[in-house]
Order: sequence, then structure tokens, then C-alpha cells
Amino acid sequence: MASNISTTSAPIGVFDSGFGGLSILREIRKVLPQYDYIFLGDNARAPYGNRSYQLVYEFTLQAVKHLFNQGCQLVILACNTASAKALRSIQQRDLAGIDPNRRVLGVIRPTVEEIGNLTTTRNVGIFGTPGTVQSLSYDIEIGKMFPDIKVYSHACPMWVPLVENRESDGPGADYFVKKDVDSLMSQCADIDAIILGCTHYPLLCEKIKKYVPAHVKIIEQGPIVAHSLKDYLDRHPEMEQRCSKGGSCRYTTTEDASRFSPVASIFVNHTVNAEHVIL
Ligand code: DGL
Repeated sequence: MASNISTTSAPIGVFDSGFGGLSILREIRKVLPQYDYIFLGDNARAPYGNRSYQLVYEFTLQAVKHLFNQGCQLVILACNTASAKALRSIQQRDLAGIDPNRRVLGVIRPTVEEIGNLTTTRNVGIFGTPGTVQSLSYDIEIGKMFPDIKVYSHACPMWVPLVENRESDGPGADYFVKKDVDSLMSQCADIDAIILGCTHYPLLCEKIKKYVPAHVKIIEQGPIVAHSLKDYLDRHPEMEQRCSKGGSCRYTTTEDASRFSPVASIFVNHTVNAEHVIL
């Protein structure tokens, strides 16, 4: 695999099952505009949220290998489900055999690192996909870092399909968002911060705010992940130097590119001309 590395371009890879990771990429590019990026959305196989561990792991590993073949030295899994179900195995088992000098980072750890500063009542809510919630990744990581915080999770299986099908502004979204917000808040009325633990959910943020009590903070991951990546690159100059700096961004998808591009353009606020890829 090392023989496939491009000598001229080493973009930072950003991967998600679908469109959601674009909400992370957009924020990363605001903070770190100088680097080259390649986004990969596995839209043809999204959503991942209801899939088994094995399948999420296999799909994510295929995506990481593909991005490495595009020259990426560093890949961000901008997907909580993939971070929860595949990241640890890839970091601990696969990387050594592929190329021990490359890195794959997730979105759960940086989010958890921030949460201690964002709650006063020490009661935190998490919205996530069924896969993320069942993995207990947030509960475990928060328990390690902030044992005084109580975590209340709620899975929202309909939210990703609403976003992927461009229904996030429609009345169907109101129905499901209200139902899921009520379920989470009924677990504990003292929740004062809610993590949107799925990168698709910022697209539903306005609706979520409509149904969550006004004093509750809604925490989006994009800015958190962006600043955490900056911090990582500051602390790892050996990796920083290997990332190419042309300010470019390529968008790739496993779906038909003509279906992907118009929706992606809404997420990132500029015109996207995506390429279709096969993993
Ligand atoms: N956007 C992804 C996440 O952060 C996954 C959504 C899905 O494919 O179900 O979990």
C-alpha cells in the first residue's frame, strides 16, 4: 500500500457514512484552511446506525484503506457510529499491518474532553444512532474522564434517514424530533447539556432547539473536532509536515455523484462537484 502514496498530495481524509461528516469538514476547513482535504461519503451504504459491529468495521476499514490509497496520511472518522464501532480495532489491530506511520482519529474522544466544561448540573444527554448508543462509547469515555457526570442516552433511528432524504426541514422531522427530545428529557429533567452524537444531527439543530428547554445547551461536534485536530497537529509536527498544504478539497461518494453534489453543496455552503468512487 505504501507504494501508492502520492508524493505531491497528502490530503487529510474525512470519512462519514453519508452527508453528516460534511458538518465536521466545514468546521475543520474554517480552522485549518491551509491543508488539502478529501471527503469520502459512503452514501450508497448509509445509514450505518442500525448495522452490526462487523459490517460497520468492514465498511470503515475499506474507506480508510481507500483514503490511504489517495495519499492521506491522516484520516478523521467524522462519524460517531464508525468511531464507536470500528476506530479502536483499526487503530490497535489494522494500522500496524497497513502503515504504522499513518493515523486514524475519531470524533467521540474530543467531544467527551469538552463536556466537563459545558455542564453545571452534571447531567448530560446524548442523542446518537442506535449503534452509537448501544456501544456505550460515550458512557464509558465520560465515565473515565468525568466520573461525576451522569449520562442519559437516547437513540434516534429516524433522524439520519430524515437528513439523508432531505426531509430535515419538513413536518415529519418535527414529529420525530419532538418525540425523541421528550423521551430523553423524561429520563432526567435536570439535563443541562445535550451532545449531538451523530454528525448528521446539526442539520436538525433548529428543530431540536424548538423542542428542548431553552436553558439546555446543544453541543455540535464540528467546532470541537476542528479545534482538537488543530491541537493534534500542533502536538505532532511529524504528521503536520506530511499533510500537504494547497487549500484544496475533493469530494467523493460511493453514491451517484449527481445525487450527492446538490445536497453536499447545502452542507458546505459552496458548489460541490463530487466524484463517484468504488470501495
Ligand atoms: N453520521 C454518522 C454518525 O455520526 C452515522 C449516521 C449513520 O450512518 O447512521 O454516527
